[in-house]
This record gives sequence, structure tokens and C-alpha cells, in this order.
Amino acid sequence: MKPYVYIARPIPEQVEAYIAEHCDYKIWRQEDEKVPTDILYKELQQVDGAFLTGYQVNDELLSHAERLKVVSISSVGYDNYDTEALKRHGVIATHTPYVLDETVADLLFALILSGSRRIAELHEYVKAGKWGTEPDSALFSQDVHHATLGIIGMGRIGEKIVRRARLGFEMEILYHNRSSRPRLEEQYEAKKVELDELLQQADVVVVMVPLTEETRHFIGKRELDLMKPTALLVNGARGSVIDEPALVEALQQKKIHGAALDVFEQEPLPQDHPLLSLENVTLTPHIGSATAKTREGMAMRAAENLVAGVTGGKPRDVIKELREK
Ligand code: 8YV
Repeated sequence: MKPYVYIARPIPEQVEAYIAEHCDYKIWRQEDEKVPTDILYKELQQVDGAFLTGYQVNDELLSHAERLKVVSISSVGYDNYDTEALKRHGVIATHTPYVLDETVADLLFALILSGSRRIAELHEYVKAGKWGTEPDSALFSQDVHHATLGIIGMGRIGEKIVRRARLGFEMEILYHNRSSRPRLEEQYEAKKVELDELLQQADVVVVMVPLTEETRHFIGKRELDLMKPTALLVNGARGSVIDEPALVEALQQKKIHGAALDVFEQEPLPQDHPLLSLENVTLTPHIGSATAKTREGMAMRAAENLVAGVTGGKPRDVIKELREK
């Protein structure tokens, strides 16, 4: 008998075909709606594995899934996993690192360019017929080339951003991270500094730390106050790493040049959110990894992890907290 898995969101055809080769399965096909909790809990009762991108995996969910061996998501960030609950229930959890690194770094660089050169704002300006109504100086912005880039959380994606920044734009690189990255220091003259020093010196601050209990609101009023009035804040991690009301206040008071954000405390961003009425922002709808090719690669990698987990193999991408020592 094949193992039985539940797929809680639509996936590309060929990924579904791969799962079908190895597993019996049921899939939720609605793009625009998540599985309602009562249905999800019912579906999970008999499963050996589940594909749960976008769902909170906690004690409550796991207590409805007695046979569950492995849960897989097509996402590198896994703040939706309660890792202690997973340990308690003896369930393996996987994510999808590597496949999306370059794609996310592209988007982050687009945000750096848009925020620094006010592209999103000035695009609206042209469309509104305002071109020619103000002196040229009203359109001035900040240089990216030779500016100082500060990356908070230097992981694989940070590294790809640094390569673009250093080789393409000759930026100076500062980073703040728990561990040192000697290869980056050698290759790109990146300099490891304390958080406050990075905030005080960087022209562009990019936040890439994963969301955990320690990093919730890591950037708040104190940190924003340390930034230069000409600096740009870019978030490609998770919305809650930044204290959003504090950021809104800093932007309203023009304490910093602007913000370029792909992630928010509440997604989709509510229509009445104060960020929507600000000019000095570039906002994208959590699309860091959203190219067709990369999303397909992520879904396939997540499917491979799922299948390995339910067929007695070793999934490649077990989250670090649950890896066998
Ligand atoms: C999500 C992301 O995977 O990988 C991450 O951590 O933030 C995104 O790529 C995607 O939004 C899930 O659909």
C-alpha cells in the first residue's frame, strides 16, 4: 500500500504527478482560499505526510494527525512551525532552502534600487501627470553605487545580495550576524559589525533574519532612531521582524529616507494600513521567490522531501532544529 498524504494547496501539475507516483493523496485545489480549519483537521486524521505551506503547525494541529510522520512546506522561512511541538509529536519537518536564493536576492536588489532611487514613488508621480509641476530637485534621490550596504542576518540569500552589491555596484559591505563569514570577508571585503554600528553607518539596511521569538520586532524605534536620515530600510525576511507602527512613524516623520518592503506583519496588507498612504515606500506583495521557475522548483523540492519522509527515505531539507545530531 502506498503512503497517504494531504496537500493543502494547489501545486504544479508535474509536482502532483511526482507525488502521485509514490503516494495516495488528496489535494485542496482552491487557489484563493485556505482549507478551513475543521476540514483540515479532519483530512489530517489518516495521513502519513502533509504539504502545509502557509499553515501554522502547532500542538493543536498535530494532535489531529496521529499518524503523521512528515510535514513539508515550499518555503525557506519556517516560522509557521512550532519546533517544540514537532519534537513532542515526533514529526519531521522540512523546508526548501537553496532553490530560491538567487531569485529572492534579485527581488531584494530591485527593492534596494527602487527605494534608493524612489522608482515606485516617481512612477506614481508620472502616472498622476505631476511631471513638470515641480523643480528637478524634488525628484532627487540616493545613489546605490559606492553606498554602504548593511545586512542584518547573513545567510545564503544575504550572500547573494552581497555578490550583486559588491561586484555590480561597488558597495561597501557591513553585516551583523551571530557567526562570522570569513569567506565573504575575504572575497567582498565584508565587515562584521555590531548592530548599532551597522545602523549608524549603512545607507541601505537590509533585514534578512528569520522570524523567531528573539527576532520579533528586532528593528524598533531605538534602532530606527540610529539610522541615517538618508538611509533606506529593506525587509525581505518576515514582517514581524520590524515593529511596523514604529517604522510608519519614522517614515511619516521622515527620520529615514524610505522603506522597501516585501513582507508585512499582516498579509495581505489591510486596505487601511498607514503604509499605503506614504510616499517614501516601495511595497511588494511577498513575492521574493515568486517567479514561475523558482516556485516550481520549490514545490518539487518540497514534494521530494515529503515523499522521502513517508517512504522511509531521508528528506534532504529537515529543519536544523530537528536534524539528527
Ligand atoms: C514563501 C518565503 O515560500 O520561502 C520563504 O520563506 O517567504 C516565500 O518564498 C512563499 O511566499 C510561500 O508561498
